Amino acid sequence: MSTGPTPIVVLLSGRGSNLQAILDAVRNQQLPVAVRAVICNNPQAAGLRLASQAGVPTEVIDHRRFTDRSEFDQALMPAIDRHGPALVVLAGFMRILGPGFIQHYAGRLINIHPSLLPAFTGLNTHARALAAGVREHGASVHYVTNDLDGGPVIAQAHVPVLAGDTAERLSERVLEAEHHLFPTVLRWLVEQRVTLRDGQVLLDGTRHPDQGLTGPDPVAEAS
Ligand code: GRF
Repeated sequence: MSTGPTPIVVLLSGRGSNLQAILDAVRNQQLPVAVRAVICNNPQAAGLRLASQAGVPTEVIDHRRFTDRSEFDQALMPAIDRHGPALVVLAGFMRILGPGFIQHYAGRLINIHPSLLPAFTGLNTHARALAAGVREHGASVHYVTNDLDGGPVIAQAHVPVLAGDTAERLSERVLEAEHHLFPTVLRWLVEQRVTLRDGQVLLDGTRHPDQGLTGPDPVAEAS
């Protein structure tokens, strides 16, 4: 790999706070990537403004213009590929991607999900975690496979559920943890410290890594 920053493309659909965390980490020289583009399916997404403010090119590919998912995916791929990304980062991208797309980016398509996978795949994870009475919740960064929210987990941030939590309060604390977790995991990836072997994630070649995070958001062992 060259010594310059690693090119990445970020896909999002909404608020963009994880994009902002990535951009902040880049600006603070904690993450050696260049965000070459932000691509978004939602013309109203606040994340588009955050990207523009940071000088990152944006592109909207509105999924409503396409008759089916695979047509949308077919439009998305060249828009991503012309930036030559080493990683394609899903940061709140709310569309399900088809098998052709996922295969095309196998091993370099990364998502953040607001739960301790495999628990609570899908939507409304915070309310469901509260309803289930779990004592611990959190977020996971994982490789994307055809199994929705089921790809190999690279790392997780654990967040305790507190007495009196509402879904909103819990989601705020999980989101704060996401903002540490995602840039950290992306750094590991661009530093080529993460390997995927037979569906198992290794950090620095081991299954039980010291994942080396400091601060308020302990990160669990890989999967
Ligand atoms: C985050 O909770 C992320 O885990 C999930 O979607 C949300 C996106 O938030 N996939 P933001 O747009 O990054 O603020």
